[in-house]
Amino acid sequence: MAKILVTGATGLLGSSLVPLLQERGHHVLRLGHTHAADLNANLASFVQTSFALDQARPEVIINLTALTNVDRCESHPHEAYLLNVKPVENLCAWMRVSGRPCYLIQISSDQVYDGAGPHEESILTIRNYYAMSKLAGEFAAGAVPSSIFRTNFFGRSLREGRASFTDWLHGALRGQTPINVFEDVMFSPLGIGTLCNCIERAIVKQPLGVFNLGSRDGMSKADFAFAFAHATKLPTTNLMRGKASKVATLAVRRPTDMRMQCERFESRMGLKLPRLIDEIQMVAHDYA
Ligand SMILES: NC(=O)c1ccc[n+]([C@@H]2O[C@H](COP(=O)([O-])OP(=O)(O)OC[C@H]3O[C@@H](n4cnc5c(N)ncnc54)[C@H](OP(=O)(O)O)[C@@H]3O)[C@@H](O)[C@H]2O)c1
Repeated sequence: MAKILVTGATGLLGSSLVPLLQERGHHVLRLGHTHAADLNANLASFVQTSFALDQARPEVIINLTALTNVDRCESHPHEAYLLNVKPVENLCAWMRVSGRPCYLIQISSDQVYDGAGPHEESILTIRNYYAMSKLAGEFAAGAVPSSIFRTNFFGRSLREGRASFTDWLHGALRGQTPINVFEDVMFSPLGIGTLCNCIERAIVKQPLGVFNLGSRDGMSKADFAFAFAHATKLPTTNLMRGKASKVATLAVRRPTDMRMQCERFESRMGLKLPRLIDEIQMVAHDYA
């Protein structure tokens, strides 16, 4: 089994991915920044990155380090660069300098798309600094042997204090808080468990290049919210269908159709990705 370093291991995705990799028998080292992990480093610093990697000596790096707050990226683009680009550059620089065989999995985002989906990998539309910085991270990762996965995901967070989209939705449905759900915003995320499984399979197959990694189809965030409410048997009375295009208070321009066409990943990996409705049903069990 390869020695795997997961950076950003203390975050939302890392908190689900690391236990799955360990269950499958992989030798995993977790790298965090402010939360305790096997190794702690500021990956925006090359000195700290190379010190940590010299200790870890990984054969596979899965980079989950990020600034995912879209509003924060817009108001602080320098931070977006430091957390979404610089760590990738530093990890790749270490890979080149160390001369050791090492493969990188870089997690990117569906936010690099807009316009009528589903989108293939080749046509990009950048709406904000978050998307720009994620794309710049992809360019950095492309300079070494890497798989770059553009994705989105949902599911119960195992990281205290870091709520996921469905945690937020579930809280609102249970608390009967009225919320607006947008029918003009489309996406095709995966359940977090399925995404972790796909990443684990990629470690073995090492498909090089850029891949969309989402559910087979997609739906609007409004339809998602109703489907999730039905699956968790919670009342839908407080879900109000609205349109993002009518909300003048959204601070940052966001894409409205992020649905991805995932055939490239399916064909390279020899698998079929699930439908979004089935992912919602599966994730709903975790909220029972
Ligand atoms: N969340 C989503 O819905 C979503 C959707 C699509 C794509 N993605 C992508 O999926 C990946 C994982 O996202 P996530 O939601 O799990 O992120 P997250 O919960 O915000 O976690 C970010 C991680 O980055 C680490 N980190 C932050 N600054 C760092 C630094 N200077 N040096 C080293 N580590 C640093 C954090 O460490 P500490 O906590 O220890 O400080 C944390 O482990 C990202 O690439 C993101 O762009 C996320």
